[in-house]
Amino acid sequence: MNETNLSGGLEALVQQRPDAVKRVFVKTYGCQMNVYDSQRMTDALAADGYVATDTPDDADLVLLNTCHIREKAAEKVYSELGRIRRIKAERAKAGRETLIGVAGCVAQAEGEEIMRRAPAVDIVIGPQTYHRLPDAVRRARAGNRVLETDYALEDKFEHLPQLREASVRGRGVTAFLTVQEGCDKFCTFCVVPYTRGSEVSRPVAQIVAEAERLAHAGVREITLLGQNVNAWHGEGPGGRRWGLGELLFRLAEIPGIARLRYTTSHPRDMDDGLIAAHRDLDVLMPYLHLPIQSGSDRILKAMNRRHTADDYMRLIDRIRAARPDIALSGDFIVGFPGETDDDFEDTLRIVRDVTFVQAFSFKYSPRPGTPGADMEFHVDEGVKSERLQRLQALLTEQQGDFAAGLVGRLTNVLIEKPGRSHGQWVGRSPWLMPVILDEKPGEIGDIVDVRIMRTGANSLFAQAV
Ligand code: 5AD
Ligand code: SF4
Repeated sequence: MNETNLSGGLEALVQQRPDAVKRVFVKTYGCQMNVYDSQRMTDALAADGYVATDTPDDADLVLLNTCHIREKAAEKVYSELGRIRRIKAERAKAGRETLIGVAGCVAQAEGEEIMRRAPAVDIVIGPQTYHRLPDAVRRARAGNRVLETDYALEDKFEHLPQLREASVRGRGVTAFLTVQEGCDKFCTFCVVPYTRGSEVSRPVAQIVAEAERLAHAGVREITLLGQNVNAWHGEGPGGRRWGLGELLFRLAEIPGIARLRYTTSHPRDMDDGLIAAHRDLDVLMPYLHLPIQSGSDRILKAMNRRHTADDYMRLIDRIRAARPDIALSGDFIVGFPGETDDDFEDTLRIVRDVTFVQAFSFKYSPRPGTPGADMEFHVDEGVKSERLQRLQALLTEQQGDFAAGLVGRLTNVLIEKPGRSHGQWVGRSPWLMPVILDEKPGEIGDIVDVRIMRTGANSLFAQAV
């Protein structure tokens, strides 16, 4: 199965016999890893003649790739299932079968409940087992309901068909590549160790081969993904375990790859090798997503983060010494059980001390089965909202300051796609922010020098130089 290569075959079938083609609609919730997983699942189904469609209305298979990280994520899935069930009923009247599948982290956490609560669902499949999706679809088409949430003993990546070059090309010049999955850290708020399982690192050879395929299909920028990506320690040639810094140096050698990134990191795993990569590798973008969650040592301890605010500050100092122009991004949770006004002030203080160019902040949401959910002194929702507002105001101000500080500066962008307005082109800055250009400064995939002229709501405007 490993060598399945369909490039061309499926595309020809679509043109010659559109009636023989089955359509799959995948809706993705949550993190970038889910985006990557959706792509891999779509590719795996291509071997059975499925092409992707962007509406559920004409889909023979609707797949929801779900997220369980916060409350509303799962609720959205149940309401979406209601909508899709009606489409399924409509299509059935016209004699057309629609299979419904639920994949991802809600599937893993609540598989049996989904089966009970949503009888229209045909397949429930977890993030660790989706290499078995084509088989699950075959069984569902034969009239079975399929629940696949047992952790697989086999390596799913060994069992998935290789990336399809045609799909990669269709997705543009940037790509995700999962190198690590799962988590052994057990932060007390987090459901990931339960939905994604324990930490697994893909071996070097597998990652390099996938990156080479991406490069061959025209990808210029790769973002390495992992729930704890900087804890990656994959097996290298000869059996020695590598660290992420070493891997980045190896990937930088691949012809065509001009930019590398990685996300999401834990402060405890920023080792010297990785910091050295930031110092020495130009292709490693000067941007780092390094969540701290809270600025209060008391709350950090209750969250089981296993570092203090001061540890984080000293780490940032070391990273900035290695790469002075690095831009930092973070995640924050407000209203963790027991968080007082003083604890929250500590969070505002560390945000002021560090300065983030980008951030994601959330109200604490108790996740069933996690230690945080059973803790005492849950914070009132109103207090959470108020704290979130104050934190977001500060973070937005920092983002605005950062963007304003770029005006007049020279930088480079990766040309990605035409813009929304006629004649405009969109590129990606080293700091991820989209850059709008008034005219086409080169070909898609080129990296061109530009001068930032002004800032927009969530973008920058620039001119080629
Ligand atoms: N409640 C609120 N936010 C959470 N996150 C993870 N779990 C929870 C939760 N239970 C946030 C963290 C994490 C990001 C991906 O989501 O900030 O870094
Ligand atoms: Fe959501 Fe976490 Fe699962 Fe990603 S890994 S989909 S963020 S629960």
